[in-house]
Order: sequence, then structure tokens, then C-alpha cells
Amino acid sequence: MTSERYIALFNADASASIGLRAAINGLPATKVVTEVSDLESLGDALRRLTVSVLIVNLDPDPDRHIALLERVATQFPDVPIIAMSERTDSQMIIHAMRVGCQQFVFKPLDRDDLRRAVDRVAVSRPGLAPAGRRICVIGASGGVGATTIACNLAMEVAHLTGKTSGVMDLQLEFGDVATSFDAAPQYTLANLCEVDGELDQVMLDTAITRLSCNVAVLGRPRNVAEAHVVTADRVAAVLRLMSNCYDTVVIDTPRSFDRITLNALEMADHVLVVLQLIVPSVRNAVRLYQTLMDYGMPDDRVHIIVNRFRKGVGSIIPEDVQQQFRKDVFAVIPNDYQCVTNSLDFGHPLMADAPNSAVRASIRELASDLLGDEQREVVGAGARNKSSLFGRIFNA
Ligand SMILES: Nc1ncnc2c1ncn2[C@@H]1O[C@H](COP(=O)(O)OP(=O)(O)O)[C@@H](O)[C@H]1O
Ligand SMILES: [Mg+2]
Repeated sequence: MTSERYIALFNADASASIGLRAAINGLPATKVVTEVSDLESLGDALRRLTVSVLIVNLDPDPDRHIALLERVATQFPDVPIIAMSERTDSQMIIHAMRVGCQQFVFKPLDRDDLRRAVDRVAVSRPGLAPAGRRICVIGASGGVGATTIACNLAMEVAHLTGKTSGVMDLQLEFGDVATSFDAAPQYTLANLCEVDGELDQVMLDTAITRLSCNVAVLGRPRNVAEAHVVTADRVAAVLRLMSNCYDTVVIDTPRSFDRITLNALEMADHVLVVLQLIVPSVRNAVRLYQTLMDYGMPDDRVHIIVNRFRKGVGSIIPEDVQQQFRKDVFAVIPNDYQCVTNSLDFGHPLMADAPNSAVRASIRELASDLLGDEQREVVGAGARNKSSLFGRIFNA
């Protein structure tokens, strides 16, 4: 039974996005599950997701958005609506209330005011969470092994659960998820974004490449120029659809905070930040982590993964990272260049090519921990004082 409130956010003002998401995600047990900016995507989201509240940012064009609100309220009478605006004139507020919004919140947002509004109207029923588990994997720097981990993690989860895992390649221009599985999908995420109107499962099935290893890949667009057809709203819709079809969806996620990526991140149950134990990578990981916190991402959803660990090599050890993030390192994956490179070159997962390797064992354990099946081993013990190095990482 969950008491978490799932929020659909309608917001056509890109510059307000970060502030709104942070304010809403910052409320107790409250999570933005989708942000959309047009009526069609909103209808699609509300049909597929059972949300506790719809929050509508009426700015910058309240009159237009009140008309939209009226249509949504008629179509989805069970979804409570909170409207918000910088405008405070009573005519506009009365108009919004008449067409179906239950609460009105003024901007700039007052946290308590927003909380009261959500508390008052949120439908709190168990089982509102979208089906499926979504795991975003982001590399703190290029080449840290995010794609390797994402692909092998999807396979290990499939193996542990006996259910097909979905993988979405959100590295729209140069993603290599399909290559990692030695697949060359004919249809991709771009084809789903070109569809007029609502997506359905048949379309998703056509675009997805099913592999014998129990992984279903939704590849990046076939060529770089096609990447521009991918929109944030469509990515959210595709992710919802995939979540309804696959128990686990792993997303190879770009290191970016554009709306496409944000939609994926906010729908994630777990965000894996992959780093290596070198100064630039740890620094970037800190920056990434801080930004996730600024966006209101709950800390317990973010996990730090150390990849390519070599004992006794380099000046930073996992315990240093733990100290800096003030949280345990979730997984440490050893370095084995030959084994990983061979597997990538042939497009074979580690499970197939190097089933007994330490790298594979660590990724399997990571999968198991994310599934909550096994007790996570605490990585290392004790702490070392490395102030000069930390000065380079965190203060420079
Ligand atoms: N645990 C590991 N041990 C050794 N090499 C690794 C490991 N993980 C990844 N690599 C290597 O790092 C390189 C980059 O991996 P990749 O997964 O493409 O990174 P990213 O997606 O973060 O750019 C590849 O050559 C891969 O073989
Ligand atoms: Mg990659």
C-alpha cells in the first residue's frame, strides 16, 4: 500500500519547469510522474496513468489554458485539478474554478500553500503507481561505462525475474545500446515520435526489437538527423507504454537536463549515477547529483555506482566517494577491460561471453539489489582523510 501522491503537471512554460518540479517533488510523498505541454499529450497521460492530482500552470496564457482545463475536467471528472498562476484577478480565478479546478495556488509558489492544496484534493488510493520499474543509468562523464552497465543490467534483471526487460536508448544521436546487443533495429523511438495521434501497444511492438536474451530494445533514431523528431512528451508517453508492457525498463540516459531527459528521470524509480574513481569523473558526479537534488529528486532514488574499480590503483577509493556523497556507494564494479571490450565488440552480453567474470557478478548483484531480493553488501569500511584531493574535486 502506498500513500505517495502522483502528480501530472501541465506546463507550457519551459522556463518555469525546474521551479515547478522542484516545488512539487519537494512536498512529502509527492512525485511528478509526467510533465506535458499540450492537450493531446495530457489526454494520453491521464488515460494511461492514474494520477492523484493534475496541476496546471495557467501561465503564460491563463485564458487559453483555462479553456484547456475545461476540456480536461469534462473528460476526466475523477482527476482533481489544481491551477496556478501569477495573475490574481478574481474574474480569472472564478473562471478557472467554474470550469472544474478545485484549488487555486498563486505564484510565486508558497510551499505550505501548495502542500495544503495537494493535501486537500489528492486522491490517495493504493496502487496508483505506474506499472513496471524504471531505471535510468547516467554516466558522470563520457566513457565511464553507463551503456555497458545499462545493457547488462537489463539482462541480469530479466534473468533474475524470468521476465523480459525493456531497454530504451535515450542517447538520441550516438547511442549504442542496439550495437551492444549486436542488433540493428529497423524501427526506433523516432518512428514512434512520428506517429500522428495516440500511441498504442501494437505500434510499440513494431518499434521494439526483441532479442533472444530476453531483452526488448527500443533503439535510438537510425540517423543523427532524425533525433530532432523526438519530443519530451512522446518520450514520456513511450516510457509509460513500455512500463505497462515490461516489468523493468532500463533507460540509457544522456547526461543532460533537457526536457526529454527530465521526463525520463522523473519517471524513474532508480537513477544510477555511474562514475570512475578519477577526479574529473567524481566532480561531474557531484555536479550531477546536486542538480538532481535541485530538481527535487528524492535522495533515496539516486544510487552511486563506481565502475572500473582497480584496487590499489589511483588515489581515490570508494569510501572517499561515500564520504563526499554522505551515502553508501551502491555498487562497485571491477575493471576488466578485456572481458568487457570483447563482449562489446561481439555484441554479446557478459552473461553469455563471460558468465563467471567478476564484472558480470557485480552487475548481477546490482540487479538483485535493485530488485530488493538480496541484502546489499556495504562497500568497504572506514574512511580516509583526503582533504587535498577533495579540494580539487569539490572546491575547484
Ligand atoms: N567494468 C569495466 N571494466 C573495463 N572496461 C569497461 C568496464 N565498463 C566499461 N568499460 C569500457 O569502457 C568503455 C566505455 O564504455 P561505455 O559503456 O560505452 O561507456 P559510456 O556509455 O558511459 O560512454 C568501453 O570501451 C568499455 O569496454
Ligand atoms: Mg554510452
